[in-house]
Parts: sequence; C-alpha cells; structure tokens
Amino acid sequence: MVVVPGEVQARDLSAAFQVIQHDTKQRLDPDLIVVASDWQNLESRLEQIPAARERCIAWQFENQTGPTDRDATGLSQVLGARLATHDIFDERDPVRGRHVIGRRDEIRALTRQVIEGKSVGLFGLRKVGKTTLIRKVTDDLDPHSIDTTPLENQINNNHSRALVFFTDTQDITEMSLERVLALLCRKLCRRLSLEGISVSAPQHPSMKNFERILDKALGTTNLPLCLVIDEYDYLYEPVPIRGLSILLRLLRAKAQETRRLALVIAGRDPGLFQAPKLEGMPNPVMGWFQETWIGPFDKDSANEALKKLGRRVGLDVGPETLNTAFEWTRGHPMLHRQFGSALWHLLRKGRRTIERPATDAHLEEAKRVFREKEAARVICQEISALLSERYQDAFDLLSYLAENSPDMASQFFDWHGGYEGESSLILRRFGLVSGTQQEPEIPQLLRWYLKSRRA
Ligand SMILES: Nc1ncnc2c1ncn2[C@@H]1O[C@H](COP(=O)(O)OP(=O)(O)OP(=O)(O)O)[C@@H](O)[C@H]1O
Ligand SMILES: [Mg+2]
Repeated sequence: MVVVPGEVQARDLSAAFQVIQHDTKQRLDPDLIVVASDWQNLESRLEQIPAARERCIAWQFENQTGPTDRDATGLSQVLGARLATHDIFDERDPVRGRHVIGRRDEIRALTRQVIEGKSVGLFGLRKVGKTTLIRKVTDDLDPHSIDTTPLENQINNNHSRALVFFTDTQDITEMSLERVLALLCRKLCRRLSLEGISVSAPQHPSMKNFERILDKALGTTNLPLCLVIDEYDYLYEPVPIRGLSILLRLLRAKAQETRRLALVIAGRDPGLFQAPKLEGMPNPVMGWFQETWIGPFDKDSANEALKKLGRRVGLDVGPETLNTAFEWTRGHPMLHRQFGSALWHLLRKGRRTIERPATDAHLEEAKRVFREKEAARVICQEISALLSERYQDAFDLLSYLAENSPDMASQFFDWHGGYEGESSLILRRFGLVSGTQQEPEIPQLLRWYLKSRRA
C-alpha cells in the first residue's frame, strides 16, 4: 500500500514499483497496489498516470493524517469492487515467486540436480512453464540471480546455495558464437561482481576469455555453478551456430572435471540432443544431459490455478467449471489460464460489484469465448507447426485421434507403432495425449482446432 498525502504524483508510484521489483522473496503482488490518499478525485487522478491504470486501486480516506478505523470498512468495499477489474489470468510472461502454482516434484528434482552439478535438458511445448520452473528453482537457490535486485542489497547478504547465471538466447539479436560468448561473459562477470570478485567482460570475447572467466568463477567459490541457457533452440536452428560444438565441449569438460557446473538448457524440442554428430564431430551433449520433459499441470494444480486466481478476481469457480476447463486444456498452464480469462471476460470485465458470480451456469459461453481467444489459437498453431515440421507421423496420429470417434483410437495407435511406439511417446511426452490406448485424452481445444482447420 502506498499512502500519499495530497495529490499523487507519478514519482510516488515509481517508488512503489521499485520496492516491488526489488522484493527478492516475491511476496508482494505487482498487480495489487492500493494507493491511499485524502486527495479528492483520487481515482481520476490515478487514471491520468499511465503506469497506475489497472495495477492500482484507489482508496480515498477522509482525514489528512491517514486512514482511520472508519476508513478500514471502506477499504474492504474498495477491494471487493476493484480486485476484479484486472484480468490476472491473462499472464503470458513467466511467473515468479508465490505466483508459481504446483510443480512441487519438478522443483525438487531440478534443485537437487543443480546442487549435485548435473546438467539438465528441459523440454516441453511453448508456454508450458519451462522458464517459470527454472526461475523458481534458480531464484530460490540464488536470490542474487534475480536481475532486478539492486546491487547495494546484495553484498553482505549472501544466502545463495549456488551461483546462477541465467541467459536467454532471445536476448541475442544476431546469432553467432561471439555474441553467445559475449552474453555468457557479461552474465558471469555481473554475478561475480556481486560476490566482490571483479572481472571485466571483454567486448569481443574469445573462447579463451570465456574459459578464463569460468575458471575464475569455479576457483573463487565452493558453491555449485549453474549456467542456464533458455530458448536454446535458437543456437542450432535453422543450422547450428559455427563453433557451438567447441563451446559445448569446453562446458562438458569443466562440468566433468569439477562436478560443480550444472548446465540447464531449455527448449521446445530435444533435436540437438538426438543428433549423433554436431559440426561433423561426435555430439558432445550425448550422454551428458539428463533429459526432462515438462508436461501440463496435473488436475490438482489445474484446479488450484482456476480457484485461486478466480477468488482473486471475484469469481466463484464451481466443480463443473473445473472439469470442463481440464477437458479443454488438459492442464496446459497458459491455456488453462486462458480458460479462466474467458470466464473473467464473460462475468467480471468492467463490473465493479462485490458479488462473486458462479461460473458453472456459463460454461457454454465460456467455451466459445475460450476457443476464440487469440492466445489459445496461437498455441494450437504452434503445436501443429512443431509436430508437422519435426514429427510428421506423430502429427498424423494426433490428427486421426482428434478427428475420429474414440472407438477407433486403439486401432490408430496400432497403425502408428503402438501405444508404446515412438509417435505415441512423442505425443505423451508433450502431454498432448494421456489416458489409455482405448480411451486417450486429448485437449478438447486441440480436437476442435484440428477438426475446424480441416472443415
Ligand atoms: N507453475 C505455474 N504457475 C502459474 N502459471 C504458470 C506456471 N507455469 C506456467 N504458467 C503460465 O504459463 C505461461 C507461460 O509460462 P513460461 O513462460 O514459464 O513457459 P515457457 O514454457 O517457458 O514458454 P516459452 O515457450 O515462451 O519459453 C505463464 O505466463 C503463466 O501464465
Ligand atoms: Mg520460456
């Protein structure tokens, strides 16, 4: 809560945003900032400040010295009416801290692997929660790896259990080995400087420079090191960047020598991990990485997401809604949130009431709004593109299953190598098919998309 006597200024709010951004424990909710003031027309004043729209709730009190007991009743009214005005379901960036739902086993496993210096390849569909999972683990292991934490808070306050260097290859505009090395060096040097170790990042680093900085990192701490390369697909698509195999070989050698360097690589697809050769040499990643697949939420986590976020925006999410949403998304986290967003659009958008509408009576409309959502369509398109480009047989199997009557399912599996065969396995790893050979479960959204595309 931000208490401002008199007229609220943009700088008052940017001070609050700073505090939220630098909250390493992520306990503060960036979407819920109560601005309390005795300023008349507080609400329209906030409307004039672009950064305040949607995120800030105005609480106007009477007395200039601050809110009194009488105003406290006012606050619950204000919260009741305003909490619902922002669609918190529609989140497309990785979520952090206490906004992370479920994934307990995955978090535990990845934490252990990093501490033990094991390297991990994390694969899964777009928007299934790979970055969220990695960030959850690395934020907890090394709060200092959170990019926004201000320098002054970090030194002398070291509770890290690992030193984490988080890189996202999407940050590189023109992909080349030199750019990759520059990014890695920058991240290493920045994190080491927080340990009081000063190393300067060369502008045009060579493999030797990178090795020197990495050795310095390994030599000056006993903590395990964790190097994250998110969206690694960009390193080798459409063709592997020149020199990638040398970089990987160096990292592999350091990891094996020290047993204190864990590489965590995340992407859609383990293509790089399956090629026996890379740049004409034996592929260095083979037999090095532990392959992990991130699938959708289980039913409990999916229910938790809808109920928890629903409560927050004033929706009474009923049991039929939970079941229907799961049938349509099979727990894909972003799709599931988009189902919630469809409910929000139908029942809460623009309504400032403290009643909590029950969702179960509106399922038919909710399904329609969900199907028409841009974000849902894009996920379906991406799934189709990934499968048809890389796994044509699995795509054919999925299309048959989606478009035909369920009693044909078993036969389709048999025609495509069986339920334990390669194509079925691909679909099951991505979480696109679950259940049994006789009664496979496929997200209803995908059935609808594939059928309507054909029509
Ligand atoms: N554990 C989670 N709890 C709550 N929401 C989640 C969780 N995991 C994923 N989401 C939702 O899914 C969205 C995508 O998550 P995230 O960016 O982590 O996925 P990703 O697999 O890294 O996606 P990309 O393919 O873009 O790299 C988030 O914006 C959030 O809405
Ligand atoms: Mg990601």
